[in-house]
Amino acid sequence: MRLQVVLPLAACLSPVAAIFSDEVNHIDFHHALLGAPSPDSTFFLKPSSSSNASLLYTISEKSIVGAVNPRDGSLIWRQDLGRFSSSPTGPGILRGLDGNSAVVSAAGDSISSWSAQDGKLIWESRLYGGAVADLELLELHDASESPDSRDAIALTYSDGTGVVRRLDGDLGKTKWEYKDTSGDMAFQVSSSPTEIFYISLQPALLKGYRIKVTALDPVTGRQSRHVILNSESDVTGQESILFVGANTASPLIVWTDKSLKTLKVNVIGTKHVTSLPIDNASGLDIGEITVHAPRKLNSLAHFLVHYKTKSGAWAEVYHVDMKSSVVTKAYNLPYLQGQSVVATNNINANVYFTRVTDAEAVVVSSASHGILGRWKADVSTSDPALHAVADVVTKGKTVAVRSAVIRESGDWSLIRNGHTEWTRPEALVHTVAAAWAVEEDLEDLAHELEIEGHESLVGAYIHRVKRHLRDLQYFPEWLKDLPKRIVTSMLSDEVSNLDSFGVAQSIILATDKGRVYALDTGRHGIIKWAIQAEKTSDWDVKAILANPGSAEVFLGDGSSVRVNSSTGEILAKSPPTDVKLQTIATINQQAGLSAAQNGAIGIRGDGTPVAPLDLLSGFLVTTSSDGRLLGWARKDSKFPVWDFVPPAGQKVVKAVSRPSHDPVASIGKVLGDRSVLYKYLNPNLVLVTAVNEQEHIAGFYLLDGVSGKVLHSVSRAGVDPTQPITSAISENWFAYSFFGDALEESSAKGYQLVVSELYESPIVNDRGPLGSAGNFSSLHNERGDSLPLPHVVSQSFVIAEPISHMAVTQTRQGITIRQLLCVLPSSNAIVGIPRHVLDPRRPVDRDPTSAEAEEGLFRYAPFLEFDGRWYLSHSRDVAGIKTVLSQPTLLESTSLIFAFGGDIFGTRATPSQAFDILGKSFSKLQLVLTVVALTGGVMFLAPMARAKQVNMLWKST
Ligand SMILES: *[C@@H]1O[C@H](CO)[C@@H](O)[C@H](O)[C@H]1NC(C)=O
Ligand SMILES: *[C@@H]1O[C@H](CO)[C@@H](O)[C@H](O)[C@H]1NC(C)=O
Ligand SMILES: *[C@@H]1O[C@H](CO)[C@@H](O)[C@H](O)[C@H]1NC(C)=O
Ligand SMILES: *[C@@H]1O[C@H](CO)[C@@H](O)[C@H](O)[C@H]1NC(C)=O
Repeated sequence: MRLQVVLPLAACLSPVAAIFSDEVNHIDFHHALLGAPSPDSTFFLKPSSSSNASLLYTISEKSIVGAVNPRDGSLIWRQDLGRFSSSPTGPGILRGLDGNSAVVSAAGDSISSWSAQDGKLIWESRLYGGAVADLELLELHDASESPDSRDAIALTYSDGTGVVRRLDGDLGKTKWEYKDTSGDMAFQVSSSPTEIFYISLQPALLKGYRIKVTALDPVTGRQSRHVILNSESDVTGQESILFVGANTASPLIVWTDKSLKTLKVNVIGTKHVTSLPIDNASGLDIGEITVHAPRKLNSLAHFLVHYKTKSGAWAEVYHVDMKSSVVTKAYNLPYLQGQSVVATNNINANVYFTRVTDAEAVVVSSASHGILGRWKADVSTSDPALHAVADVVTKGKTVAVRSAVIRESGDWSLIRNGHTEWTRPEALVHTVAAAWAVEEDLEDLAHELEIEGHESLVGAYIHRVKRHLRDLQYFPEWLKDLPKRIVTSMLSDEVSNLDSFGVAQSIILATDKGRVYALDTGRHGIIKWAIQAEKTSDWDVKAILANPGSAEVFLGDGSSVRVNSSTGEILAKSPPTDVKLQTIATINQQAGLSAAQNGAIGIRGDGTPVAPLDLLSGFLVTTSSDGRLLGWARKDSKFPVWDFVPPAGQKVVKAVSRPSHDPVASIGKVLGDRSVLYKYLNPNLVLVTAVNEQEHIAGFYLLDGVSGKVLHSVSRAGVDPTQPITSAISENWFAYSFFGDALEESSAKGYQLVVSELYESPIVNDRGPLGSAGNFSSLHNERGDSLPLPHVVSQSFVIAEPISHMAVTQTRQGITIRQLLCVLPSSNAIVGIPRHVLDPRRPVDRDPTSAEAEEGLFRYAPFLEFDGRWYLSHSRDVAGIKTVLSQPTLLESTSLIFAFGGDIFGTRATPSQAFDILGKSFSKLQLVLTVVALTGGVMFLAPMARAKQVNMLWKST
């Protein structure tokens, strides 16, 4: 009954529902991510000389340059260098200087300058001669240059040749270059107020390297002198050198001997090497030594050496005498248990060190060991800190500090005076798989209902009465909460809290760094829990399968990890098998089945399943490494029942099937004249994409997954195989997109979006050969002939940009119009194209007749422009999305959307508008007051009316 009411309603409403700006951040959430910040390219910087507030700049291990607001952790701008540089080697380098309005980045062989304020590109320069090995900005500049742009010194190195270049800060032009062809290993560049130093490693006669420092004239780039340090007994490669200071009053090179007993310090440009004994007071093996020194020409020549052991850390502070280059120890920071990181920064000439440990944050001046500020840490996390940058401010005698801490997972948090202000979950950028969590109690109810459905009438009745009696124990609790719930629901501006309608579901994510997360999509995608399931940087996650109360992550080596989906506790781990898996197929994934019935089958590279297919109820189709498609049946896991070999030269690249939850609300399409076109609804449809890379042909084949029979095929020419080719299939239609020739005028090339609909017959009111049979067989039917072919209606549209991934919105009963979800990688957006816009029956070259107009068809236009209202991502910049998932809720109007792969984005889609939810403008209070007023009025007027009636009776008699 309710269904029948909803159906016409859904049809009447305008099917295009935009996201209103007041819904942004309310129904959707977005984690705009950078990736783990690179420690030596992360800093606080004032974006221009006129601003007081600093921003936090970094380049991440994904080669994304970004600026973050230190106040709330929001992203101000970002630029993906990996997208432009053809071969980024390593994360890249980012440099900035106070007073400079630009930050300069290097990735691969290209150097770019970005406006620090808004991230606009100022210049980009490609350097021949290999990848950029080091980059520094010159603090001093010529009087002739603009005051807020500094020249850059770049070092490139390849095949034994190092080249030092000075690049103009305004234009990026090379002012001079110095080439070193001696065969030394180019290492770093550094500068002092008067000289530029090029530091290289010269192979010594026997083994090890000698450090060679070449001093260059900053104006001409000519070599003025060079110094060779006898370090060959200590230095075995670049990693032996702990520190090369740049841009400081007394730039330093620091290394140690092999046994970590002495620290060697050289003031760059001098021949003298100071040996300092390492005071191994803790009596533990030293794991890591880091050197922290200020990066400003006018700062005091002080530096700090931080020693880390397995269980704790300490630090020592040294002063350098500028005239004599003598290094003396000033004081030390005591050994403390647990994690510890140190950051340095300076205010004018004064240098401050900030130490963040498990228990506290401490600020000291480099001049003396007196503690200027000390704050208790508010959280202890199991995710150890690796590196920090700090920003100290002083006001009279008091100091305040905020430090941005990079953690082992890659997450980034800001600690202000010991208090964690924000955490950016940068590790989520590595998400490779996701699945919606299945709640335990929901499943319980479904299970109970299933029992009731299967029992006899009396048995089911008794079962239900028992269930309700059991539920009665929650009644007092519910009653107690009732007044509070009524009051809050009236006063809060959100009319109804929809969480109980399944719009707040959890999603389980796994990253390729061995981490597993649960996000709450109902509360802005906050992280419910996060665990490090495996210590690895290359976790080969194939699939996540959610069961009631738990989730299982399946890996390519055949192992799996099962976690409790509400706590993240690891419940079980299964060991790896010796078969390498290509993919994992999940079967029987539907509600109401127990965990044991929800299975996963590993598929080898050649397309054969690893396990027997006893659980298989539908069909299984796999792709093999030689470009074929194999179909499997339950009885046999050794030999496929059918295989599909595309035409010679073509390779199967992708196969998609209808989603496991794909309800069909109506089996036919009612036309304007009340006749019906019956939909071809085969649950076993598989859409296969095969590509011939040599001849630029793409073939799209519609198969029956049980028999392997080709139901329909198309071949498109002029296809660019390097551009994304995607497809999606649902209900009785499928869509695909590629870059290639348009169908009619083959001269025109462009991004195409093709939609095809399948009908049982081209004739209205005709059900085709199957008629109204309740069931059919893919293999044979009673008349002995094979499966009837669908009648296919197609239409193609030209679109302005590529689509890299497609999905279809899912709702509970499929009554709501579906949207085709498309990821647009070039504009970093996700659009949901309403299905009726893509109707292939739209009239071509003529206006629709009145019957067609009644059906909702409008004139076909070959170019499909994405309407602003279709953008589910609104104006957000949702970058790097690889996969979009859709999940029905208990509300028929609403579908949950979750996108991952780079950024994390989630929203709710209401393709036919939220017809089953009261709007925000609906006031419950007003309704109640109206009812109360009416009741009051009736109570007041009723006696009067009665009296009047009695009076009238008296009068009339
Ligand atoms: C910077 O701070 C100074 C002094 O605190 C203040 O006078 C000035 O207006 C501030 N400038 C900006 C751009 O906020
Ligand atoms: C520190 O001292 C301990 C115990 O004396 C010793 O085992 C360890 O090797 C020393 N570490 C270094 C780096 O000298
Ligand atoms: C998950 O943890 C919760 C809370 O500790 C517990 O109630 C639940 O039974 C656990 N679920 C599973 C499947 O272990
Ligand atoms: C399917 O059709 C066959 C033959 O028409 C019939 O015997 C069988 O009972 C049907 N099965 C179902 C589940 O309707």
